[in-house]
Amino acid sequence: MNKKEIQKKYKEKIKLFNKLNKFYYDKSDPIASDQEYDVLKKEILLLETNHKFLKSNNSPTNTVGYKPSKNFKKVLHRAPMLSLANAFSEEDLINFEKKILNFLSQKKNFEIFYSAEPKIDGISASLTYSSGKLIRGLSRGDGKEGEDITENLKTIGDIPKEIFSKDFPLEIDIRGEVFIQKSDFKDIRQNFANPRNAASGSLRQKNPEDTKKIPLKFIAYTFGFEKGLNVSNQFEYLEKLSEWGFKTNPLNKLISGIKNLILNYQDIEKQRANLDFDIDGIVYKINDFNLQKRLGNVANAPRWAIAHKFSSNKGSSKILDIDIQIGRTGALTPVAKIQPINIGGVLVSNATLHNEDEIIRKDIRIGDIVTVERAGDVIPHILSVDTNKRPKNSSKFVFPNKCPSCGSKTIKEFNEVTKKIDAVRRCSSEGYFCDKITIEKLKHFVSKEAFNIDGLGKKIIEGFWKLNLISFPQDIFRLDYNKIETLEGWGKLSVENLKYSINQKKTISLERFIFSLGIRHIGLENAKLLSKYFVSFSNFQNLSKKYNYDDLLNIDGIGETQVSSIRSFFSNELNIKVLNELGKILVITNSAAKQKNGLLKNKSFLVTGKLSGISRAEIKSLIEENSGSTLSSVSNKLNYLITGEKPTKRKVESAKQLKIKIINQDQFLKMLKKTS
Ligand code: IVH
Repeated sequence: MNKKEIQKKYKEKIKLFNKLNKFYYDKSDPIASDQEYDVLKKEILLLETNHKFLKSNNSPTNTVGYKPSKNFKKVLHRAPMLSLANAFSEEDLINFEKKILNFLSQKKNFEIFYSAEPKIDGISASLTYSSGKLIRGLSRGDGKEGEDITENLKTIGDIPKEIFSKDFPLEIDIRGEVFIQKSDFKDIRQNFANPRNAASGSLRQKNPEDTKKIPLKFIAYTFGFEKGLNVSNQFEYLEKLSEWGFKTNPLNKLISGIKNLILNYQDIEKQRANLDFDIDGIVYKINDFNLQKRLGNVANAPRWAIAHKFSSNKGSSKILDIDIQIGRTGALTPVAKIQPINIGGVLVSNATLHNEDEIIRKDIRIGDIVTVERAGDVIPHILSVDTNKRPKNSSKFVFPNKCPSCGSKTIKEFNEVTKKIDAVRRCSSEGYFCDKITIEKLKHFVSKEAFNIDGLGKKIIEGFWKLNLISFPQDIFRLDYNKIETLEGWGKLSVENLKYSINQKKTISLERFIFSLGIRHIGLENAKLLSKYFVSFSNFQNLSKKYNYDDLLNIDGIGETQVSSIRSFFSNELNIKVLNELGKILVITNSAAKQKNGLLKNKSFLVTGKLSGISRAEIKSLIEENSGSTLSSVSNKLNYLITGEKPTKRKVESAKQLKIKIINQDQFLKMLKKTS
């Protein structure tokens, strides 16, 4: 990206950030999830760190939140209301502590105590007490300037209006969180999306009587400006708070050591669902106020505190677009492009929509606000649509009736087994006619269980296809290596390596070969069955001439679905061409050769060390296909020890003693007449 593009990207992000802030703070109606907001903020900060020329008054480094709404009087905070940096993992915590130790120039063994406080997901407020009297209550606003919501805050029972304790400071801003308990939220849930919205909305009512109707609670946890506060650490402060009549979180703990923070985190995460208030993480604050003072702040967050967020496997985001991906078998898979959100520490920007039926069933539309779930390693998917947030002008998503790649008609097939129409819509061309299908077929062809070509991954296949270096599988074996050498990212050595791995794979077993063709419904197992049935490549190649398709039904495990798929494969001229071309280039070994007189008959082998471009499993099956056998240790029964990189010395030594032939990979392949 050049400077202009970076600037443009930055401006777009700032614009979105402003918009999110406006909705959140002005309208009390957030249009993005917290995670989404955090990610955006992080992205902006990252851009600023990487590109010093980027500047904006609206940068998150200058603002915390958004300017307060015009309805309330604006008042400057006597001390700014800061925000917190986030941690998502143990590693983040380790780094946090490391930085602190560095800053304080302390050794690793310096013990730091933290006040670990569950982070209530509500609305923060700052209460100014003067001579024990509550004189003002402010919302956070932009962190510097808040809204005067004193009268509304005064309606909250948990907030003391006057404090008589002798040790209560002359002047202090008590800060904490206003929130609604889950049990109370139940009764008003029809009016608000979540407890936090309800708290925020009710705090902003014009008439305090309206605020009073909502059962708001207050928990105190920090302070702003103070005069006469006589405590030396956070935990002591929390204790004082409850002595003075404030509520504090009963789950607050004093902890040292990252390991213990993690244990506490896990423990609280377990209780999370059963707590009567929403929490979204745990705040860790260095307990000692002297250390806090020394550490100070960075931008708008203290260096001495961090919020350890819980990993949610769900998040709310907006569908920006619906993309249609085309698979190897022509299946059209809709994918929602969503506004990136952090779900459990992973940035998610795509969610699968499965198929056309799923879109219809859930009536998913572009522009919708949806709940996205990311469970385990599976592709994130959409759980539900918030139809209340649907833009008025939105229209139903129309699934394309033409393939977006090749323009062929898209069809839904009748499934013979389930006797139902398929949920999946497909490109009817089903083959090399469609570019997208071709690329997927090529990726499958070189994949691990097929030709397993080292150094020819998905990205490279895509790149070579775009450059017209590969259009059909046979082109892989006729690559223009001189041209590749001139491409960015390639050099003499890498091209040599690629050439070597491709040439090595010119010999392949019939079963792998059949599998690599990517015939629909013919996976590895079915390919094995077919290869046993056909025995040789030429039988398979001449299937349509030599056999009746219905004969294939005699193969145990092959059914109507597979046969009809094979039939349609062989009725496609391009497929036949590919088959013939590959037949000319490759050595496709017979399936039944194992049992008969192969080249390695009566010969036993043992491999030691790492081989290049061929796995142990593959070499073993090559040996067996050629009537040889493999042994697991060196003994006088062994005929050949095949050595790769870093062989086990002991094995080589004993082979030498027993006068066993020691050969390398190339010599072995020569025995099979396999080298080019
Ligand atoms: S301390 C100087 N303590 O989290 C540190 N904040 O992103 C700032 N929060 O605005 C506040 N529980 O709304 C602190 N025990 C706790 C908290 C807490 C929840 C919220 C608060 C703040 C936000 C920071």
